[in-house]
Amino acid sequence: MARPVPETVSVAAHREGARLHYPSAGRNKGPIAEVLLPVLPTGARVLEISSGSGEHGAHLCALRTDITWTPSDPGARERESQAAYAGDCGGRMRPPLDIDVMQDDWWTRAPAFGALVCINVIHISPWRAAEGLAVGAGASLSPNGVLYLYGPYLEGEATAPSNLAFDADLKARNPEWGVRPLADVVALMADHGLALERRVPMPANNLSLIFRKVAP
Ligand SMILES: C[S@@+](CC[C@H](N)C(=O)[O-])C[C@H]1O[C@@H](n2cnc3c(N)ncnc32)[C@H](O)[C@@H]1O
Repeated sequence: MARPVPETVSVAAHREGARLHYPSAGRNKGPIAEVLLPVLPTGARVLEISSGSGEHGAHLCALRTDITWTPSDPGARERESQAAYAGDCGGRMRPPLDIDVMQDDWWTRAPAFGALVCINVIHISPWRAAEGLAVGAGASLSPNGVLYLYGPYLEGEATAPSNLAFDADLKARNPEWGVRPLADVVALMADHGLALERRVPMPANNLSLIFRKVAP
């Protein structure tokens, strides 16, 4: 029996053939590239979790012709879109994978990778998705490997009012969703051997977080 696709947001999108266009990805792909690209080593093999439309991978592959990028998503419509964008990237954007990070051992079904990227996901999925991401990153990244996360976070009294309102909205839609406290995410990753190296403020009260796998 086919496993159920996790409940997710319906991201505002328009469609041209198989290609989805997310306005949010259009806005944030430039700022994300500025932070992420300098962190990726030459020839990096990147696995992206929850790639949605696939626009981030296509944008980053166009800017860095030395990297290979494997997109993924549990959604079939999203994987079709990723495959359409991959056609523009001269083979450096690989065929999309069906990865649900709440499945046991999800990383064993992916090719070897040196960096993991996950954009706008852990607040729009149950906390066990963040846990699954941490387990897989800890088990599969080699020492010095990078985990890049992007999204909104709660930071105590410093939390932006827009992020508090977003948190309330997410919880009303699904009580298992919600903007995550940064301290909880940092502690979770540390439990799996990933140390927070940089916290970079991004537009619209989002953060880029760069974690690095420490030697055991
Ligand atoms: C808000 S969209 C973000 C898409 C893309 N990363 C972007 O920023 O444009 C959230 C994505 O997370 C995916 N997702 C939800 N639950 C997931 C899970 N358990 N494992 C992997 N991906 C999941 C959804 O299918 C959806 O594509």
